[in-house]
Amino acid sequence: MISAVGLVLLVLSSCCLSLLDAQQISHPLDVSALQAVPRKLKDPMNHLQDWKKTDPCASNLTGVFWIADPSDSFLHVKELWLLNLSLTGTLAPELSHLANLTILFHPEVGNLTYLIFLLLSGNQLTGPLPQELGSLSNLLILQIDYNGISGEFPTSLANLKKLKHYHMNNNSITGQIPPEYSSLSNVLHILMDNSKLTGYLPPELSQMASIKIIQLDNNNFVGTEIPSSYGKIPNLVKLSLRNCNLEGPVPDLSRSPVLYYLDLSSNKLTGEITNKRFSGNITTM
Ligand SMILES: *[C@@H]1O[C@H](CO)[C@@H](O)[C@H](O)[C@H]1NC(C)=O
Ligand SMILES: *[C@@H]1O[C@H](CO)[C@@H](O)[C@H](O)[C@H]1NC(C)=O
Ligand SMILES: *[C@@H]1O[C@H](CO)[C@@H](O)[C@H](O)[C@H]1NC(C)=O
Ligand SMILES: *[C@@H]1O[C@H](CO)[C@@H](O)[C@H](O)[C@H]1NC(C)=O
Ligand SMILES: *[C@@H]1O[C@H](CO)[C@@H](O)[C@H](O)[C@H]1NC(C)=O
Ligand SMILES: *[C@@H]1O[C@H](CO)[C@@H](O)[C@H](O)[C@H]1NC(C)=O
Repeated sequence: MISAVGLVLLVLSSCCLSLLDAQQISHPLDVSALQAVPRKLKDPMNHLQDWKKTDPCASNLTGVFWIADPSDSFLHVKELWLLNLSLTGTLAPELSHLANLTILFHPEVGNLTYLIFLLLSGNQLTGPLPQELGSLSNLLILQIDYNGISGEFPTSLANLKKLKHYHMNNNSITGQIPPEYSSLSNVLHILMDNSKLTGYLPPELSQMASIKIIQLDNNNFVGTEIPSSYGKIPNLVKLSLRNCNLEGPVPDLSRSPVLYYLDLSSNKLTGEITNKRFSGNITTM
């Protein structure tokens, strides 16, 4: 007589054999992460019903694409395609267990023009941001901090006229901050610290009409000076440029009247610092 456990194992292994090459099975962490997703999402059309199964041979769950990782010989989730499935709700934090996930930045993300929040903080997302993100004209918050994003900042994001929060700190983004971002007239916070940025600091950033916080610490703007325009930003409350390989004089910041937090430490700045160069509201320097 065959035991219930034996029967289950038999069914699973024949499923794996029939669906997958080389008898590979999906990694248990990836499977449990996928099972967590539908618990947090409203799925009125039941598109993700198959994700709830405990079947580890999940080679063709709706919208899921796998990659074989030779280092552990398991299949890992590489891509999630969840467009046009009428899903609402939040993405389960367990998604961060999907070590090989890259798809959230497929160019078709640009089709989600109704998207208001794109919050993917603290995952292990890699690859560059696609230019298509610049089509998300209703986006208010773009927050992909604490990931492994590489490549350069897309200039197309200068089109996000409604954007208020642009949080991309703690990634591996390289190259120049696009001067075109001066047209982000609603952005309050631009956080790009702890990345691999180079090039110069664009003086044009001072034209961001609503900007309150500029945080670019721990980047490598070799030999760059702090633009004097940064001292004339009407709403600026925080300017943090620690450890950025900056040179030249400390600018006159007295015309950023509400500036209260300033960190220019661990650079190669020269010249005098007198209290005439700062607003009377400064509390932290
Ligand atoms: C799995 O793939 C088969 C064959 O391509 C297809 O008929 C089936 O609908 C797929 N199932 C899911 C859940 O996508
Ligand atoms: C998957 O992610 C792990 C951990 O980040 C990494 O070591 C591995 O090389 C990746 N595999 C593939 C195939 O991308
Ligand atoms: C979205 O899904 C609906 C219903 O399943 C379908 O009729 C429509 O063609 C799809 N739209 C796109 C752009 O794929
Ligand atoms: C995304 O938009 C492009 C161009 O409008 C269209 O060709 C494509 O089918 C769309 N994709 C989806 C998944 O809706
Ligand atoms: C952000 O990056 C800095 C510099 O690499 C690092 O010291 C810090 O721990 C990172 N923060 C997190 C939460 O990972
Ligand atoms: C301090 O900030 C207030 C607005 O909060 C501003 O009116 C005032 O001029 C600032 N003081 C100085 C000395 O810059």
